[in-house]
Amino acid sequence: MEIDWAALRTAAIEVMRRAYVPASDFPVGVAALVDDGRVVVGCNVENASLGMTLCAECGMVGSLHATGGGKLVAMSCVDATGAPLMPCGRCRQILWEHGGPDMLVEALPRPLRMDELLPHAFGWVDMEKVTGPAGGPEVPAELAKWRGRGTVFVHPDLSGGETIWTGYWERSSGAPGTGEDKGILEEGPNFPTASAAVAWGLVRSPRVVVVDAEGGLSWAGEGELPDGIPQRWTEEQA
Ligand code: THU
Repeated sequence: MEIDWAALRTAAIEVMRRAYVPASDFPVGVAALVDDGRVVVGCNVENASLGMTLCAECGMVGSLHATGGGKLVAMSCVDATGAPLMPCGRCRQILWEHGGPDMLVEALPRPLRMDELLPHAFGWVDMEKVTGPAGGPEVPAELAKWRGRGTVFVHPDLSGGETIWTGYWERSSGAPGTGEDKGILEEGPNFPTASAAVAWGLVRSPRVVVVDAEGGLSWAGEGELPDGIPQRWTEEQA
């Protein structure tokens, strides 16, 4: 993915001017590129209760999720002079969560990777070694950024002569003509009932489509029926 560092720096400088910094008079602005091409920004916001200061990176990560989620690819963080500023320790942990080891942070003379800024980082994988998969019913950590996105297709299958239910999580929304990336994110396990497979799907995406043995489509997702799906799925169909 092409990173336009100059554009990120310009956006960071612009939002730095909106910082609320009565305590420090040290405005900070950040702009980050998301893996779908969006740019999200944030500025620091201080408080009379000094320890409650919100760093610019925190605002940016809030905006990342408020505007659709995704993974951070690159970030420019600037001080009042417009020069690159290193994220504080706490923010490095926050950036690690949403950008991972490959995320780049503007620095001189070259951008630095998150695994350079936060070596030996603590993350979900360390917890999962002890507790098993975290973050809700078994969404693997490497797929956490896809939660709430894509579409789950649930369908019956034969296993050892018996009908079971399974599904797969597809990265595109399934809507025609959007030019989105396609591809399977995760194959589901076998479930005894359609309801169990639908529940597996709803943990991953609000878009869940049940495909019956005849290829008929029913909507088990949230909200209105999307175009091309004639009916809502009900437990009785299972
Ligand atoms: N600050 C940020 O917003 N991000 C950083 O990574 C470094 C520090 C802010 C917090 C506080 O408002 C001011 O800079 C001085 O510490």
